[in-house]
Amino acid sequence: MRVLEIASEAIPFAKTGGLADVAGALPAALARLGCEVTLVIPGHREALDRGLAIEPAGIGFDVPVGARRVPARILRATVPGGHDALLVDNPEFFDRPALYGDYADDAARWMFFARAAAELSARLGAPFDVVHCHDWQAGLVPALLKILPPLVPAATRTVMTIHNMAYQGSFPASDMPLTGLDWRYFNWRQMECHDRVNLLKTGLVFADLVTTVSPTYAREIQSAPGGCGLEGVLATRSGTVAGIVNGIDTAAWDPRNDPHLPRPYGPDDARLGKLAGGIALFSRLGAAPPDGRPVVAFVGRLAGQKGVGLVVDLLHRLAGSGRVRFVILGTGDAHWEGELGHAAAEHPGAVHVSLGFDEGLAHLVQAAADLLLVPSLYEPCGLTQLYAQRYGTLPVVRATGGLVDTVIDVSPETVREGSASGFVFPHVDAGELERAVIRGLDAHADGELWQRLVRQVMGLDWSWDTRAREYLRLFERTCSQPPQPVES
Ligand code: ADP
Ligand code: GLC
Repeated sequence: MRVLEIASEAIPFAKTGGLADVAGALPAALARLGCEVTLVIPGHREALDRGLAIEPAGIGFDVPVGARRVPARILRATVPGGHDALLVDNPEFFDRPALYGDYADDAARWMFFARAAAELSARLGAPFDVVHCHDWQAGLVPALLKILPPLVPAATRTVMTIHNMAYQGSFPASDMPLTGLDWRYFNWRQMECHDRVNLLKTGLVFADLVTTVSPTYAREIQSAPGGCGLEGVLATRSGTVAGIVNGIDTAAWDPRNDPHLPRPYGPDDARLGKLAGGIALFSRLGAAPPDGRPVVAFVGRLAGQKGVGLVVDLLHRLAGSGRVRFVILGTGDAHWEGELGHAAAEHPGAVHVSLGFDEGLAHLVQAAADLLLVPSLYEPCGLTQLYAQRYGTLPVVRATGGLVDTVIDVSPETVREGSASGFVFPHVDAGELERAVIRGLDAHADGELWQRLVRQVMGLDWSWDTRAREYLRLFERTCSQPPQPVES
């Protein structure tokens, strides 16, 4: 099967969050299953500045963006998994300090990217069986492939995967001409939403298959408020939204073999590995060395979604207890950066905050921590709780989205069965989070129980192979069925 994957970010090229991890690892996993996979991402400045082996692919063409014709030069990199990655290079749109930012020309840059990727799908030799589009930045692609004078053969199927329903790529109606599609598609059944062009909706309407990144999130987005206004659109689609939990790259995230750790470890020597990790981490943060207090960490985007308000509350509730040290690694909203900074200043020996994006530090924090906070208001899948488990760190999660599907609450029964894998609290409530963390600290104090829990979570299998097989099954089924019809 020939598969084209289209995403706005992917490791090892450029990353702001979990989409990059997925778009980096899923193509490799599909390739291991025998698929011929090509990944398309923008030629972000970050991607070109990382010193990776990236060469001109010898492909260049002009892309219509409204009245303009914008040049796209294609670069090629061979990714360790063996598949090709193509970068759509256009300095005007992608030579920028950040991948995203409220840029005034966002409509043009992402419509350019989608159109370039759609054109590419027709220019790369034999036709693709599946064009797999991730999130709103690729949402226009299914519509372009279905509507424009046949860009791809009728046998090609499009798949739209939702990583986050809250980000929809909604632009003023006046940007409709930039899509290259006729105004007749600007209607409430197709591309329009509240008088604006909505690129995620476009993908959901035109794709042959819609998936998301966990079964619980697949249910949540089919009604309000999880659907973020697009629940009605999902209801109009025949068939259901498939939910496949993300895998993790078990080579990149392997405590037994992780270059970011001072002392790699497995389940048998996790205590020593974590102690060495803690020494390295606190020295890097300019803080006092480990003193036996358990380490409770948070790694993530500082955005409303992640429940950062609950984290800040928790710091003020527990930092003075003398029972725990907190380590926060994150970047994002200035408001939350400020609040976290205040908490660190107020509790110098107990709260350590590192504001910035640092892949190596994220690994070290996972290795040094005992508990990892994921108190999200909503969470399509979440990857940090999976990395935590692999590193013998028990996640403390709110019961939402993929967190429900990946973490089983520690209780006498689940410990007995051997299924316990973290601490779960039901509501967005600082008191509930605090109680869940205290349960975690109490379990940590019980050496025998803790060792059992650490061993249990480190043995979980979150590798991509089984999940990629699920994608492949869905791709095969979609290819054997008629396409989603287009209303004209
Ligand atoms: P989301 O995609 O919503 O941000 P995920 O849990 O799926 O959440 O993925 C987050 C990814 O980004 C993980 O790989 C996590 O380690 C990484 N990450 C988030 N913030 C930082 C940071 N400040 N520094 C390094 N890595 C980070
Ligand atoms: C999104 C979601 C996150 C998910 C990631 C990868 O960013 O917020 O829950 O893990 O995509 O699918």
